[in-house]
Amino acid sequence: MENFSMPKLAFYVTLRCNLRCKLCAVYAPYYEHPYHPTLEFLLKCIDRYFEIVDHVGLFSVSGGEPLLRDDLDSIIDRVSTYDDRIDRFEIITNGSIIPSDSLIRSLKPFGPKLNLLVDDYGLDKSVHAQEVTDKFRLIPDARVTLRDYHSGDMHCGGWVDYGISEKSIKKDIAAAKALFNKCSYPQKLDFCTSMVNGKLYSCTQLRRLVELNMIEPDPSEVFDLFEGKLDENIREKIKELYDVKFLSACAYCNGICDDSVRYKAAEQI
Ligand SMILES: C[S@@+](CC[C@H](N)C(=O)[O-])C[C@H]1O[C@@H](n2cnc3c(N)ncnc32)[C@H](O)[C@@H]1O
Repeated sequence: MENFSMPKLAFYVTLRCNLRCKLCAVYAPYYEHPYHPTLEFLLKCIDRYFEIVDHVGLFSVSGGEPLLRDDLDSIIDRVSTYDDRIDRFEIITNGSIIPSDSLIRSLKPFGPKLNLLVDDYGLDKSVHAQEVTDKFRLIPDARVTLRDYHSGDMHCGGWVDYGISEKSIKKDIAAAKALFNKCSYPQKLDFCTSMVNGKLYSCTQLRRLVELNMIEPDPSEVFDLFEGKLDENIREKIKELYDVKFLSACAYCNGICDDSVRYKAAEQI
């Protein structure tokens, strides 16, 4: 079988968060019962993913707040068994929880492939940002970045408002295509494909719209890793995620574009 490579995967280990950010890109504060699967299920998802995908450029662990999981070390231990199939391994955290010694131990096998991002939303929210950064920096070869999301010179100028809610108004196809062509997710970021509950979504906003029953999950945009047999066909279907000319979600979304209005990051509800 042909080698199947994906540019990147955002692997969501929880949608629970200890912050309640109004413009949260993954809508963490808007769930009554946020996604928080068992360790067993997440290990199954990792194994299934690497049964299908031979190689991934970037494996990014995100949430919610991933460090809320005290079994994060076990999740990372499992990902590291596929180390030879991953170019870069990343964790994004909000700087509010100091990583355990066991988590640090689990990260070490990734060596120079490690990219650890500590988002600093200010002293009232990212209460341990500097300590988290300092502890990560003890890992030999890791690239650790403390991202300023609170001063007058915020990372990327601040956050965007994707504009997704039950009240979002559907635009026409021409507008959806125009948005797709300038949105960083499908363009600069190679789609930012994410995995939640065993499903691959070509865009996080698409997942939210499916949840809100505003769009139907289209088989060329959403792919269930546990549906169907493991054969070449499954890979062809996933490859289709990358061939679309726009996503159904683009008709409702403002996107994250160079000219998007920027807002103060992590404003609390
Ligand atoms: C959803 S967060 C989860 C990881 C972690 N809890 C954190 O806050 O860093 C993942 C990334 O998305 C960014 N993000 C969240 N909402 C955003 C928005 N509306 N616009 C731009 N970036 C956003 C965060 O700053 C973070 O870097």
